[in-house]
Amino acid sequence: MTFDIAYARRQFPQLDDGFGYFDNAGGTLVPKSVVERMTAFMTECQVQPKGVYGASAEAARRLDEAKARMAELVGAGVEEIVIGHSTTLNVYVLTQAMRSILKPGDEAIVTNLDHEANNGAWRRLTDAGVLVREWRVHPDTADLEIDDLKALLNERTRIVAVTHCSNVTGTFNDLAEIARLAHGAGALVCADGVAGAPHAHVNVKTLGVDVYLCSLYKIYGPHHAMMYVERGLMRRLKGQNHFFIAEDELPLKLNVGGYDFEVVGALTGIADYISALHERHFPGTNRPFADQVKPVFDLAARSEAEIAQPLHDYLSTKKGVRLIGTKTGTARAPVFAFAVEGRQASEFPPKLAAHKIGVLSGHYYAQRLIDALGLLPQGGVVRASLAHYNTAEEVQRLIRALDEAI
Ligand SMILES: Cc1ncc(COP(=O)(O)O)c(C=O)c1O
Repeated sequence: MTFDIAYARRQFPQLDDGFGYFDNAGGTLVPKSVVERMTAFMTECQVQPKGVYGASAEAARRLDEAKARMAELVGAGVEEIVIGHSTTLNVYVLTQAMRSILKPGDEAIVTNLDHEANNGAWRRLTDAGVLVREWRVHPDTADLEIDDLKALLNERTRIVAVTHCSNVTGTFNDLAEIARLAHGAGALVCADGVAGAPHAHVNVKTLGVDVYLCSLYKIYGPHHAMMYVERGLMRRLKGQNHFFIAEDELPLKLNVGGYDFEVVGALTGIADYISALHERHFPGTNRPFADQVKPVFDLAARSEAEIAQPLHDYLSTKKGVRLIGTKTGTARAPVFAFAVEGRQASEFPPKLAAHKIGVLSGHYYAQRLIDALGLLPQGGVVRASLAHYNTAEEVQRLIRALDEAI
C-alpha cells in the first residue's frame, strides 16, 4: 500500500501557496482539522473550564479529550502526560523536580548530540553537586556508540538524557537498548523524542524510557509540547506547582504555569488528522484511535524515506558536500543537514528561497554537536527536513536549486 500524499496535502491549507516547505524539523504545517478545533474552541468555549455552566463544562470536556488523544498517541496514561509551552520548559521543570531525588555525588549522563533542551538544564545540576558526564559522538560519523555509554555508566549514574533522534543527523538511537543498560545501572532515561516522534510510531512503554519529550508543533499541531513521565517516577518527584497542589495530583504537580486552553483544545485536531489518514488507507476497520496511530505512522515513514532517497543520494555523492549522519532509510528521519566546503551555511537559504524552497541554516540549538563537528566557523549547517506531505517533485526542485547554488 502506498501513502496517499495528495490526500494528505489537501488537509494543509498553507500548501496551496506552492512553496516547498523543507524545515519540518523546525516545525510542521498544521492541517485544517487543527485550525478548525482551535477556532471552535475560541468561538464556542473560551471561558474558564470546569464550571457547571454549559460553555465551561464543554471547555473541560474538550481539554480532557485532547489530553487523552495525546496520551494515546505515545501509548501513555493520561496522568503521565504533562502538557506545557515547550519541551525546553518541560525539561527545565523536570530537572527542578529531580533535585528532590538527587544528592551530591550522583551522576548524570548527557550527550553532545542532543538539542540544548535536553542538555543545559541537566548540566546545571552540577550546582546541586551532581557530576555530569558527556557521552560524545564519534566526530567522523556523528553517531553515539553504545560502548561509550557502557563506559560512562556506573552505580552512581542516576539519569541518562539522550535524544531518540537527532534534529541534525536524523539518526535514531536505540532507546530500548539504552534504557535496558541505564536501568541495569539503576539510572533513569530522559529521551528527547522531538525529532523522532514525527517520523516513527512511538510507544513509550515499549521503549521502556522513564521520560519522553515531544514538541507538538513538529507533529502537525500548534506551538505546545508534551512530556511523558512514568507515573511511578512522577509520584516520587517533588511537585513544582503551587503549594496547594497535592503531590498525588498527576500530572498537575509538574504542570507549572499550565497551558493555553485554545491550543490544547486544538490538539484533538492532530488526532482527527491521523484518524482521517487511517480511514483513507484502512477504511472501515473501526479501530480505536490508539490503534490507528501505528499503521498510519509506519506507512507515512516508509513513504517519507522513499521520497527523501534522491535527496540523500544527491547530498551524499555531491562533490564538496559533507552530509552529516550515516544512516539511511527509516533508520534515519528524513532530516539532511550538510555543509559545503569553503562556504558559509547562511549563503544557501536565500538562494533556495528564490526557487520557492524554505530552509534555514545554523546550529539548530545543537550547538555542541556542530562545534564537535568543527562547523561553527562556517555558520553551522543547512538543513532540509521532510514531512510526509513533501512530494518527489519538491525534492527534485530542491536538488536542482542546490545544484545551482553549490
Ligand atoms: C530535537 C529537539 N529537541 C528539543 C527541541 C526544543 O523544543 P521546544 O521548542 O518545544 O522547546 C527541538 C526544537 O527544535 C528539537 O529539535
